[in-house]
Amino acid sequence: MLQLQSDTSLAWVGTVEAGIDEVLIDHAHCEKKAAGTAMNLIFSYVESVDFVQPLCEIVTEELEHFSLVLDLIKSRGITFRKQQPSSYGRRLSELVRKEEPEKILDRCLIAALIEARSCERFGVLRDHLRDPELAQFYGSLYDSEMRHYGIYLRFAQGFAAQADRKEEVAPRLRTLARKEAEIIALGDPFPRIHS
Ligand SMILES: [Fe+2]
Ligand SMILES: [Fe+2]
Repeated sequence: MLQLQSDTSLAWVGTVEAGIDEVLIDHAHCEKKAAGTAMNLIFSYVESVDFVQPLCEIVTEELEHFSLVLDLIKSRGITFRKQQPSSYGRRLSELVRKEEPEKILDRCLIAALIEARSCERFGVLRDHLRDPELAQFYGSLYDSEMRHYGIYLRFAQGFAAQADRKEEVAPRLRTLARKEAEIIALGDPFPRIHS
């Protein structure tokens, strides 16, 4: 359903549980970055009003998620701080092609895949974390990340249709999903949502 080409292993849940404070800090930064991604798209394509308005909703929702994770961090006595991010987002953004309309197609498809991976991982955390508060929390975020995935995918289809290149969306999504699976498999030496 999410068009991802790999499943998260349960070993990753163990890594998360062992480094949960760091993962919560990373998760907060991820939500902030998700708001930033939507905001950057608004700046780049502000004249596309039908594109911009749903993006405004995504910015608002991601900032709400950011604030919710900050609440959780504070309630657990964890100090929020800057942190080295996982290499996942940077590696994915390197795949964006430089010319339009390929550029906007890739930006939307990569945003969709990041939402899909977040959604998949939140589902794994909901089902396998032993801390009931955290399991419930991740379950509560699952649906909105699923919805964001669908919105970005529809954006990609819309921009491709405008350029009369609709047939390119499915193969490009498969290519990017394969690369996403390779990138997430590389991991990072520290616990992160996308490590
Ligand atoms: Fe979010
Ligand atoms: Fe999201």
